Amino acid sequence: MCGIIGYVGTEDTVPIILEGLKKLEYRGYDSAGLAILDRGAVSVVKQKGRLTALEEALRQNPLTGHIGIGHTRWATHGEPSDTNSHPHLGSQRKIAIVHNGIIENHRYLRETLERKGVVFHSETDSEIVAQLAEYYHRGDIMDTVIRVTNALEGSYALGFLCADDPDKLIAVRKDNPLIIGLSDGGNFIASDVPAVLKHTNKICYLEDREIAVLEKDRVTFYSRDREVIHKTPETISWNFESAEKGGYKHFMFKEIMEQPRVLRDTIRSALPGGTNHAVIEALDIGRYSQIFFTACGSAYNVSMVGKYVLERLCRFPVTADLASEFRYRDAVIDARTLVIVISQSGETADSIAALREAKRKGADTLAIVNVVGSTIAKEADHTVYTMAGPEIAVATTKAFSAQLALLYLLAVRFARGLGRVTPPEEAALLADLEELPDQAEALFAHVDRIQQYAATCFNCKSIFFIGRNVDYAIALEGSLKLKEISYIHSEAYAGGELKHGTISLIEEGTLVVAIACTERLYGKTASNVEQVLSRGARVLFLTSSGETEETDCLSLLPIRPVSEWLAPSLSVIWLQLFSYYVAVYKGCDIDKPRNLAKSVTVE
Ligand code: M6R
Repeated sequence: MCGIIGYVGTEDTVPIILEGLKKLEYRGYDSAGLAILDRGAVSVVKQKGRLTALEEALRQNPLTGHIGIGHTRWATHGEPSDTNSHPHLGSQRKIAIVHNGIIENHRYLRETLERKGVVFHSETDSEIVAQLAEYYHRGDIMDTVIRVTNALEGSYALGFLCADDPDKLIAVRKDNPLIIGLSDGGNFIASDVPAVLKHTNKICYLEDREIAVLEKDRVTFYSRDREVIHKTPETISWNFESAEKGGYKHFMFKEIMEQPRVLRDTIRSALPGGTNHAVIEALDIGRYSQIFFTACGSAYNVSMVGKYVLERLCRFPVTADLASEFRYRDAVIDARTLVIVISQSGETADSIAALREAKRKGADTLAIVNVVGSTIAKEADHTVYTMAGPEIAVATTKAFSAQLALLYLLAVRFARGLGRVTPPEEAALLADLEELPDQAEALFAHVDRIQQYAATCFNCKSIFFIGRNVDYAIALEGSLKLKEISYIHSEAYAGGELKHGTISLIEEGTLVVAIACTERLYGKTASNVEQVLSRGARVLFLTSSGETEETDCLSLLPIRPVSEWLAPSLSVIWLQLFSYYVAVYKGCDIDKPRNLAKSVTVE
């Protein structure tokens, strides 16, 4: 959580930092602030609330300068408030810092400094970094940063400004992301690439404990032992426009509409000539005895689809596990296990821990990641990238679809490796897959249908989602999407589970969203629909079967996949649109839902 940005160069820093913070707001939006170093003095303006509050504060108290750091916060230690906002200053206002992460030993360090007379101003764990820096500082900021980071336990991405060294911005990280952007007009630090894309696509990734010293015309990288490290910048293919709303009212809607393109690019990436092809081809399913998926949130829901699809197509043992559970449950895995970690950001703390646990146990690891150069992408034994481009809305949509597409391709590849499909069968599966983007596109012609239905649902107190098999996995995703952006209570159940308790919650008018795209299970889900209808529910039924007819209480959303196994990719788009419109009609903050952050880098 939290986004940090810094700039040193020839331009006016404040607009650059504000623009960067806008791109990072998805990481947290409880408060925002910036520090500027000008004529040997550090000035800080910070404000509880959204970025607009900071912009207003800067109108009252304008700052200028050519070097600065900024922060947007997702509160962990201390409530959202002006004082708990970043940047934090040491007592002598010489050193300012911005921090993303958690300092685990902050209490001990704070008490130690307090005994020496240092006065703290906030309740945050982060302030210790600024206070400690000033306590240790003897004139050499590099030395100070090394001493500070040696004392810290926990995770951090940090930016430092020091009044004694007015031309340098120092950055260091451990277990939290930090990129360095290089341009002719100056150099940048940021939590994520979109924050600097307007200015540069030349990026260096900082490794754990490495230190970057940024000046207006150069960046020098050091190891923790002060040895100079040479890094070659990577060129990012995402462009600035892809991180903009492009005329849409919300990023979420734009990202939903981008899905045909994302599916097309991701499928191509895994076919001969594509960037993921070699990695996928090199995976030898014959060396494994089982597959474990591990992930969080929506990425976990993708894993659930993956489990059903792989088991059925490959006849191979597959487990899907929440990363937060996997990391502590001492799972039975070994060198003959392939652990697949799925993550949009590649920085989710639980997923990183699960990956490390899998590696510690000797498993082979494959990452399915969207953000190039992220921790999970770099630490996994094999990495494939989803071609979603920057995903800004907190609620994931296009990354979900891209992950699903790569899973289908892996399933086909593994089915071939295990001899479960003949070459013509494989070709037929791939041909179906290549039709998926057009099918997704065709669905958008009927958006008004789901919009009209959503208009009747925004007052619901509770909504239930049911389905079986892959439709159950998509029910989980539909339910998650709805609650995270509309704040309507919702639950997803495997259709067969309903009668074991949950059906007692169904009363007159309760909305049940049922999904039935798995033909052999259609009758089962249809009878669950009957059961809830007869208890007064109204039902939105997503189905590929033509057997059901609409009634006053039963509305249909037809799904026509070219092949049944690809139906989840279409039903999920309907559910994304449903959640989106319900939240729009409720007047919710679609792209920045309360209490959430895009990238969950804390446990
Ligand atoms: O970046 P990741 O894919 O690892 O993130 C995992 C979850 O935090 C994420 O999918 C979350 O559930 C989304 N907000 C759902 O829309």
